[in-house]
Amino acid sequence: MHSSFSLLSLASLALASPSLVSVSSEVGDVIRRALPDSPSGGYAPAEVKCPSTRPTVRSAKNVSQQESDWLRTRRGNTVQPMIDFLRGANIAGFDAQTYINNHRQNLTELPNVGIALSGGGYRALMNGAGFVAAADSRVAGSTDQHGIGGLLQSTTYLAGLSGGGWLVGSIYANNFSTVPQLRDGSAGSDLWQFSRSILKGPKENGISILNTASYWDDVHDAVDAKRDAGYEASITDYWGRTLSYQLINAKDGGPSYTFSSISRSPGFNDANQPLPILVADGRLPNEKVVALNSTVYEFNPWEMGSFDPSVFGFVPLQYLGSNFSAGSIPDNERCMSGFDQYGYVMGTSSSLFNQIALRNISSEKVPSFVTNAIEGLIERIGQANDDIAVYSPNPFYRYNTKTNPSAEEKTLTLVDGGEDLQNMPLHPLIQPERGLDVIFAVDSSADTDNNFPNATAPASPVVPDAETFINKGPEPAPDLLRVRPQKLHHGRPGQRAPAAAHRVRALMAYTAWGNVSTFTMSYSDADRNAIIQNGFNVATMGNGTTGDMSTKWRTCIGCAVLQRSMLKTNTTMPAACQECFQSHCWDGTTDSRPIAGGYQPNAVIGIQETSAGVSSRAGDFNKVLGLVSAVVASGLVLVI
Ligand SMILES: *[C@@H]1O[C@H](CO)[C@@H](O)[C@H](O)[C@H]1NC(C)=O
Ligand SMILES: *[C@@H]1O[C@H](CO)[C@@H](O)[C@H](O)[C@H]1NC(C)=O
Ligand SMILES: *[C@@H]1O[C@H](CO)[C@@H](O)[C@H](O)[C@H]1NC(C)=O
Ligand SMILES: *[C@@H]1O[C@H](CO)[C@@H](O)[C@H](O)[C@H]1NC(C)=O
Ligand SMILES: *[C@@H]1O[C@H](CO)[C@@H](O)[C@H](O)[C@H]1NC(C)=O
Ligand SMILES: *[C@@H]1O[C@H](CO)[C@@H](O)[C@H](O)[C@H]1NC(C)=O
Ligand SMILES: *[C@@H]1O[C@H](CO)[C@@H](O)[C@H](O)[C@H]1NC(C)=O
Ligand SMILES: *[C@@H]1O[C@H](CO)[C@@H](O)[C@H](O)[C@H]1NC(C)=O
Ligand SMILES: *[C@@H]1O[C@H](CO)[C@@H](O)[C@H](O)[C@H]1NC(C)=O
Ligand SMILES: *[C@@H]1O[C@H](CO)[C@@H](O)[C@H](O)[C@H]1NC(C)=O
Repeated sequence: MHSSFSLLSLASLALASPSLVSVSSEVGDVIRRALPDSPSGGYAPAEVKCPSTRPTVRSAKNVSQQESDWLRTRRGNTVQPMIDFLRGANIAGFDAQTYINNHRQNLTELPNVGIALSGGGYRALMNGAGFVAAADSRVAGSTDQHGIGGLLQSTTYLAGLSGGGWLVGSIYANNFSTVPQLRDGSAGSDLWQFSRSILKGPKENGISILNTASYWDDVHDAVDAKRDAGYEASITDYWGRTLSYQLINAKDGGPSYTFSSISRSPGFNDANQPLPILVADGRLPNEKVVALNSTVYEFNPWEMGSFDPSVFGFVPLQYLGSNFSAGSIPDNERCMSGFDQYGYVMGTSSSLFNQIALRNISSEKVPSFVTNAIEGLIERIGQANDDIAVYSPNPFYRYNTKTNPSAEEKTLTLVDGGEDLQNMPLHPLIQPERGLDVIFAVDSSADTDNNFPNATAPASPVVPDAETFINKGPEPAPDLLRVRPQKLHHGRPGQRAPAAAHRVRALMAYTAWGNVSTFTMSYSDADRNAIIQNGFNVATMGNGTTGDMSTKWRTCIGCAVLQRSMLKTNTTMPAACQECFQSHCWDGTTDSRPIAGGYQPNAVIGIQETSAGVSSRAGDFNKVLGLVSAVVASGLVLVI
């Protein structure tokens, strides 16, 4: 009911409140996509000619050669955006251009930046999208005085988990389009059309779909084709297929698109974009819950695997689906490609949602042959396993037999990356080999009853407990919190943690209730846009409109980016940066007293009701958006 209203309302929002940023886009956006390169031409994997050097699993003691080569170009490509970004931070007494140019000969001395987007279903996708839009210098308004535009262009890694993985996946499936482009789609496109749940499928004016029944026909046929090719199907196949219609702007949600095709896409290959990573967890067959020490797997454009000491290996993503044994494809086995189907990878990282989708499958007009197929699968694997993604054959079969818990399993079962209660995809980013200096962790978890994050997600091992956060945090201003570097070890003795020092947490929001339930599966266009907009405002602290800290926010973000670089180069921190760290840092002591009545985050605008300026703006939002104007608490944390 809001759909024809949304563009207008955002435009008038910008007019009514010039000091708040609106996520606007240019007219005539075209969205193109990555590569439909599955050898079968469809959803199923198919045989390919083995390369002259047969694919092998490699040890995780380092990043891959491809990543290492790519990084050299990428780090170089971030130099100019970094200069622009740091200039925009307006750090008194600091000349960004001179500093960066003085050190550009040695790229390890320059800031190495990562962004992590948490899970949390559509809430996480939309809130994360607001952050990404704010960080993207291509988005109008992002480089205004208090904007953080250019951070994305200065970033080396962009990691997502579950709902955050949908966002990362959708960005790269669509030629690194901007968030406004993805949001607005193009004529007839189903992209980000969240008003129809995936159970119903896209509207009839989509580029391919006629009605719900034929939508499910297509989904069912695709999964059948994978089965016919000799592969075991799992519920994640159905789930990933349906998700793709909303996230990949191609006919039928791009059945032949592969995640590894990102590595062959021009913008990425030229290192003009950060490196995307999605995260999933390993779960042993018949294990009912995911152990907290479960193996964390990552998918990057070249590889899938784990830095965890248990598996400690990476397989070339393109050859997933081949019968690897003890780290190679034996001479009598075929080389297969296309298993790393794009939607399947996104579905794996978010497999928890299988259950949500399925719980209601009979309440929609889903044809009975589909419900029967899915119920048959559940019967076979058991209700408790309905969240698994089947990776069969297991690429790590007989690999690292001493430590790999699945070494003797023909099937590797992966689940939603958030199931080990690590809802932030920090794991790939804290690997010492990747040498990150700063991670912007955008937390859209629903830890509290009201669907707000409470700092639990990115907690151990990098930050103090949630109670300390809440008891000591000068909410609503973001607090830069010093983390305990000694806690940063991750299983490998003797290795120094790559990233340590502070963490900023902005728990607040501005213009919409973004604390929507993880299980809400459809959103009007107006709600979608308002939540994205709110995420943008969280990222910029309302473009500097919400008090003292908000005007310093941009400077402090710049300082946070710079800090480790300055330590490496033995450069004295500018006074403005020292001020950021002194006033907004955790002093290292904890206050773990229980929070009486649970954590009830305050609304920024609510808190500032005494400020006539803010409350009148709130009134404007009510009028303009027709939505509840208030706050979203979404945590923005920054770990240096
Ligand atoms: C953000 O704030 C700056 C400085 O106050 C202002 O010039 C700019 O127009 C604002 N941008 C938006 C999109 O509101
Ligand atoms: C992808 O985006 C780049 C940069 O915007 C553009 O030059 C290129 O033409 C696009 N590719 C496709 C296939 O649309
Ligand atoms: C890891 O890769 C980097 C870059 O290629 C190289 O300099 C380093 O020596 C490698 N380290 C190990 C342990 O192989
Ligand atoms: C996790 O811990 C349990 C109990 O200590 C152990 O049996 C299991 O092998 C561990 N799993 C991994 C992947 O290390
Ligand atoms: C892998 O090996 C199994 C037998 O162990 C066989 O059934 C299957 O077809 C093989 N897969 C491929 C892709 O060749
Ligand atoms: C399931 O369907 C019921 C009734 O149609 C609805 O109230 C509920 O919100 C749905 N749940 C999900 C997770 O979609
Ligand atoms: C934070 O959220 C977690 C997960 O829901 C919960 O277990 C914990 O009690 C919460 N802590 C506080 C202080 O709110
Ligand atoms: C969002 O937060 C507000 C304020 O705490 C609360 O009233 C509302 O119920 C929350 N919405 C959801 C869907 O949890
Ligand atoms: C580059 O900088 C790093 C960090 O300061 C230092 O350890 C390394 O020795 C430098 N490399 C060269 C070639 O100067
Ligand atoms: C760092 O700089 C200070 C002066 O700015 C100097 O006294 C000190 O020796 C330098 N330390 C190193 C390790 O270069």
